[in-house]
Amino acid sequence: MSRADLWNRRYRDKTSVAPELPVELQQSLALLPPGHTLDLACGDGAASLYLAGRGHRVLAVDFAIEGLKRLQRFVTDSVASEELGKRKPEIETREIDLSLPDALSGLGRFDNIVLLRYLPETSLLQRLPELMTPGAYLLIKTLNSDYHRQTGFPERFCLQPEALKDSLPALTLVKYENGLSQGALYDSYLYLFK
Ligand SMILES: C[S@@+](CC[C@H](N)C(=O)[O-])C[C@H]1O[C@@H](n2cnc3c(N)ncnc32)[C@H](O)[C@@H]1O
Repeated sequence: MSRADLWNRRYRDKTSVAPELPVELQQSLALLPPGHTLDLACGDGAASLYLAGRGHRVLAVDFAIEGLKRLQRFVTDSVASEELGKRKPEIETREIDLSLPDALSGLGRFDNIVLLRYLPETSLLQRLPELMTPGAYLLIKTLNSDYHRQTGFPERFCLQPEALKDSLPALTLVKYENGLSQGALYDSYLYLFK
């Protein structure tokens, strides 16, 4: 079974309730100015839905089609309740395997890129600056090695302290949060493209 199939099965087995984003992740996303935002490895859209609710136009990308279908359903459900005063979330979805060399070609340029709860490969990171407009932000926030120690979650999917500090010389690191030193399970990097 492929890795995408494994994720598809997880999404198929979930309840029909829309995903809730942990407050810690919401607080980081709230720093981003509304604009055209790329949510990479979006899953079933916890971050995309939160961002769209704050006025972002989101392109949500994942290789798990079942996650994307769930996200599309949550958008449709929102449209159905529009008469209750809710705004339609502006979210487009795209099925893409981020491990492929041309994964990001033709997506356009963005005011923000977010990568939450997904550890990007160096080759993917290197290609992100060319997708950013001047003044754009890149937020990477994912689990650190404390999470591995507490849960047994594979360490290779966890961020080591400062692991990405020097990974993106084309960008300026404006905020780094070392979760281990704060008793938190996430490490976070906010970069700016000047
Ligand atoms: C832990 S989930 C995080 C989902 C979402 N970012 C969130 O925080 O709710 C990781 C996601 O990465 C996706 N993923 C893993 N490898 C991928 C790849 N090579 N290309 C695209 N998506 C991938 C999975 O399908 C899954 O939806």
